[in-house]
This record gives sequence, structure tokens and C-alpha cells, in this order.
Amino acid sequence: MDTQILKLLHERKATRAIAGRPVEEEKVEAILEAACLSASCSNNQPWRFILLDGDDPEALAKGREALSGGNYWAKTAPILIFGYSKADFDCQIGGGTREYYLFDLGMAVQNILLQATELDLVARPMAGFSPKKVREYHLNKPGQTRSGRSPDRARCGSVGRPATAPQLIEKIRARGLWALR
Ligand SMILES: Cc1cc2nc3c(=O)[nH]c(=O)nc-3n(C[C@H](O)[C@H](O)[C@H](O)COP(=O)(O)O)c2cc1C
Repeated sequence: MDTQILKLLHERKATRAIAGRPVEEEKVEAILEAACLSASCSNNQPWRFILLDGDDPEALAKGREALSGGNYWAKTAPILIFGYSKADFDCQIGGGTREYYLFDLGMAVQNILLQATELDLVARPMAGFSPKKVREYHLNKPGQTRSGRSPDRARCGSVGRPATAPQLIEKIRARGLWALR
């Protein structure tokens, strides 16, 4: 059966070749709105996102520095989004044996991936980064977190337009680790 959701899910690819061209503001807003429309336990909405782009070049540069070596390709992405949460942002059931904050954060991130895909953008999740560096620089800025609560779990992703293979270094191309659309 053809459905819009299945079409999007088939189209979504974690592409590494990302063009540096800025993404239009309305698309960025659509991506964040999609994240915030996600379901969450008791409607706690435990996700927090730090979006870094050309509006604050220093913060974006610091975000890029936090990426691990293997994720060098993401340094061309015009947007980095660090998503994070914390156990006490969300439901803890069974005396804390069942926690939902990462489950809910993950669902919000999936909405980002799908909305980006529909807008012909690429959004790739990344575990390869230093949460410590992000905490030290981005979360110590006033106004970045609610009431000074620091995260104990963070997730990261890059967003941009898909680009063509020459942007990638030979090592990656040779290993065929990238996907083009
Ligand atoms: C939690 C998580 C962490 C990931 N970390 C990285 C990463 O650090 N670097 C990277 O290039 N890809 C990363 N990926 C992307 C996966 O490699 C990619 O989703 C997987 O190979 C499947 O490809 P597809 O998303 O195109 O279906 C991550 C994906 C997830 C869900």
C-alpha cells in the first residue's frame, strides 16, 4: 500500500554529503515544530534542543569542535542540533525502574528526521560527539536550560541539503559508507 508516511520513511537516508548552504528559516521552524508535536509520557515534552547555525558562528564552531573525528563530514552542515533530556524531566514509573525521557527524546528526533526529509533536507543522527564539550560551552550560557538543570543525556544530529560525493574525502567514498539521493 502507498502511504505518505511509508513514502517518507523510504526516502529518509542518513546521508553524509551535506551542502553548506544555509537552510531557510521557515524550514528550520517546521523541523522544530515537528519535534515538539511528538507524543510524550504525561505530555511532559522532556526534549530540549540547542540549534546551532550561522546566526551564532562562534557557537556553531564550538558545536563542530565537539564532533568526533569520524564525524568530520558533519562540519559542513549549516545546522547542528544537540538534543538532550534528563530523567527528572519525564515519567519515572515503578520506583524509577521505567524511565521514558530517552524514549520521548528519540521520538521527537524521529519527527525531525522525517520533517527534514519531506523538505528535501538531510538530517543524520550522531552519537559521535563529546557531550562534555557541549555541556561546558553551550549549556553554561544563560537562558539555554530551564532553571539551570543540566542534562545527563545528550543526542546530536546535523541538518542540511544533500550534496554530491566530491565533498567527501576519498576514504569514505572508497568504503562506500555514504548514501546519495
Ligand atoms: C543513535 C544513533 C547514533 C548514530 N551515530 C552516528 C554517528 O556518530 N556518525 C554517523 O555517521 N552516523 C551515525 N548514525 C547514523 C547511522 O549510521 C545510520 O542511521 C544507519 O547507518 C542506517 O542508515 P540510514 O539511516 O540511512 O537508514 C547514528 C544513528 C543513530 C540512530
